[in-house]
Amino acid sequence: MEAFHYLNQALHCEQLPLKQLAREQGTPLYIYSRQLLEENYRAFDQAFAALPHLVCYAVKANSNLSILKLFHDLGSGFDIVSGGELFRVRQVESDPQKIVFSGVGKRISEIDYGLKTNILLFNVESWGELEVIQARAKSLNQTARIAFRINPNVDPQTHRHIATGLGEHKFGVPAEETISLYQQARTLSHVEITGISCHVGSQLTSLAPFVDAAQKILTLVRELEALGIALKYIDLGGGLGVRYRDESPPTRRDYAQTLAGCLEGSGKVLILEPGRTLAADAGVLLTEVLYLKKSQERQFVIVDAGMNDLIRPGLYDAFHEIRPVEQTTAPSMAADVVGPVCETTDFLARQRDLPAVAPGALLAIMDAGAYGFSLSSNYNSRPRPAEVLVHSGNYQVIRKRESYEDLIRGERRS
Ligand code: LLP
Repeated sequence: MEAFHYLNQALHCEQLPLKQLAREQGTPLYIYSRQLLEENYRAFDQAFAALPHLVCYAVKANSNLSILKLFHDLGSGFDIVSGGELFRVRQVESDPQKIVFSGVGKRISEIDYGLKTNILLFNVESWGELEVIQARAKSLNQTARIAFRINPNVDPQTHRHIATGLGEHKFGVPAEETISLYQQARTLSHVEITGISCHVGSQLTSLAPFVDAAQKILTLVRELEALGIALKYIDLGGGLGVRYRDESPPTRRDYAQTLAGCLEGSGKVLILEPGRTLAADAGVLLTEVLYLKKSQERQFVIVDAGMNDLIRPGLYDAFHEIRPVEQTTAPSMAADVVGPVCETTDFLARQRDLPAVAPGALLAIMDAGAYGFSLSSNYNSRPRPAEVLVHSGNYQVIRKRESYEDLIRGERRS
């Protein structure tokens, strides 16, 4: 059974009616299905069973502690991009030897934190960063395990805001410089060269860019080995897309088989950093209709969730399916579903066919489990929503709804 499905015309998450959650926890509300999170992780991990591999969930996709704990309990490691994310994953007894640290601008304090935690790998994005890592490792009398993140100059054919692997992007080091960087790195006393990494973008819906990148990386691995620089890990990042509307991304199995085909016989341990493919479809944002309003050109459905709660439509023009919580036979209408925030980009859908709804109706914004809450903010001084994790007919509040007091914590009046 689908994790989100209709039963007697009422939308459920697993066995729980969303209407009950709205009544008990209010709206806007993030709702996650434990069953689907688990299924997604297992399917991903098992698809790679034939290869020695380590799944490092990309914490940025959804960093709630309960979600991290859930993935940890299933065996996952973590891909982090900040000291804050490291702090989070340390709260769930994560194994430091399953943590990789990516990101283009690591601060000294963050590098120190990673070194003291003895994480598996720093994915290094510039020579300058490596010099800092060397200096800090030396002063802490530690050895830093590192991989350079290579920018393979591959077009991921995704939205321009979430493409990362082209020469015009700030990420990684240019592929042409790889050999000389590794040769220089070899001379550093407190750095252990352990791997090579890349990540070409997010929401990829075809395999070709993954294959291009993997092949480029493998060519570099062979060149390095010819120079006596042997690596243990190849980290191919995240990026596998999901279906929001009518995309048909590769299945996890095809993705895994294709990467396995590229890596066959390389003898390396493959690291993967999936985010969206594990979390997106396992979460929805539940919102209540406040008002209907018509302009000369548009029908607006004004809801209580705004761009501060889910920014993907406003930021990337992203499409999220919207389902009424009560199925009706009302005729459909084309509407703009908009939030209360004072910005024109505060919309959840534009010109969308929806069954006619009235104030008080509940709507579920689908596929909001990844880059939903984690990208939320307090803009317009709006307390952020609660998050709940559903497990069959029960649920737990895994993050309390913020209060007005939360909004001013740490501020002073004068
Ligand atoms: N590894 C690295 C180094 C990354 O930068 C990312 C995502 C991932 C892994 C995970 O990628 P995924 O498997 O989730 O595609 N806010 C945007 C997505 C930004 C992705 C940033 N990096 C969105 O809502 O579409």
